Amino acid sequence: MTDTPASAPAPMHTRITELLGIDYPIVQGGLAHLSLAPLAAAVSSAGGLGQLGVACFATPEDLRAAIAEVRGLTDRPFGVNFPIGVKPMDAFLEVALAERVPCISITGGNPEPLMRRIQAANRKTNILVLVAGVRAAQKAQDLGAAAVIAVGFEGGGHLGRDDIGTLVLVPRIVDAVQIPVLASGGIANGRGLAAALTLGAAGVELGTRFVAVQEGNAHPRYKAAIVAANETDTVIIERAIGRPARVLRSPFAEQILTVEAELLARGADRETALPELLPLIAGANNMRAALDGDLAHGFVWAGQVVGLIHDIPAARELIWQMVTETRTCGQYLANL
Ligand SMILES: Cc1cc2nc3c(=O)[nH]c(=O)nc-3n(C[C@H](O)[C@H](O)[C@H](O)COP(=O)(O)O)c2cc1C
Repeated sequence: MTDTPASAPAPMHTRITELLGIDYPIVQGGLAHLSLAPLAAAVSSAGGLGQLGVACFATPEDLRAAIAEVRGLTDRPFGVNFPIGVKPMDAFLEVALAERVPCISITGGNPEPLMRRIQAANRKTNILVLVAGVRAAQKAQDLGAAAVIAVGFEGGGHLGRDDIGTLVLVPRIVDAVQIPVLASGGIANGRGLAAALTLGAAGVELGTRFVAVQEGNAHPRYKAAIVAANETDTVIIERAIGRPARVLRSPFAEQILTVEAELLARGADRETALPELLPLIAGANNMRAALDGDLAHGFVWAGQVVGLIHDIPAARELIWQMVTETRTCGQYLANL
């Protein structure tokens, strides 16, 4: 592990840092229930891009208050993440637009309706779209996305259906679009950032790594479970309903898989499987584990990158270490 530099490393210059007005090309992914103001502000004030997650807020006014809280903590740019389908988005989007947030990221469905509304209101907001395939990336570009986030199979939370790993997905998308690409899925340190830049990405988006930082509101038992886990300790749930998502392996997660296997054996399709699975995969079960620390009666999202996470640093420590380590990797390559 690289030592934390005593002062901010020199800014990096990529198409993403220029686009977003940040010092380092490191974006904190939207994290359901875990993207609150203290984390977003810590990431942004350290030189990355922090994000609030709409999935975290019960009401649009809660989002407005969180935006004010971020602005009270840092004057640096930040984003708001919109996971389509989690809840009705219109009133939350009104707040984000009225507050003129610099960046909005969209995931989980067809981004077009949200993008049209953002573009009609304000052409300055940078729209980032999460994608897991070449066609979705091209579509996002055609719709006017400022950049795409290419999320590989290693990642935590919801994934694409084609199981394409980050190492192949990122260069495929880099070659297929002209807008900048952020690499996501499996990145936790400077070696990962260096690798992503080498693949042609202009930056990275990290999810699981930002769960286990000091400013995060994940329960200490969730953070400790990430540190304790290795790369074989995740499983993919929700395949039976066509929306695969990676969680930390646990007896509760195994129970979900058992029910899914039974449903598939009975020939259930997505529609018939959903009502039977819902009591297990409900958001309340995620919150019980992630926020209350009851890992026996709920599940938590996490990527294979848990195998690379061995500590719970402050966001600034993590980001500055990553930048320093990335530069060391660059020197290594230059000297080969
Ligand atoms: C706890 C957790 C919650 C997540 N919630 C969201 C979300 O609400 N919106 C979203 O766009 N992505 C969400 N994701 C995906 C991340 O933003 C990111 O794309 C993914 O974690 C990248 O893979 P990594 O975990 O290997 O870094 C979540 C991921 C995790 C681990």
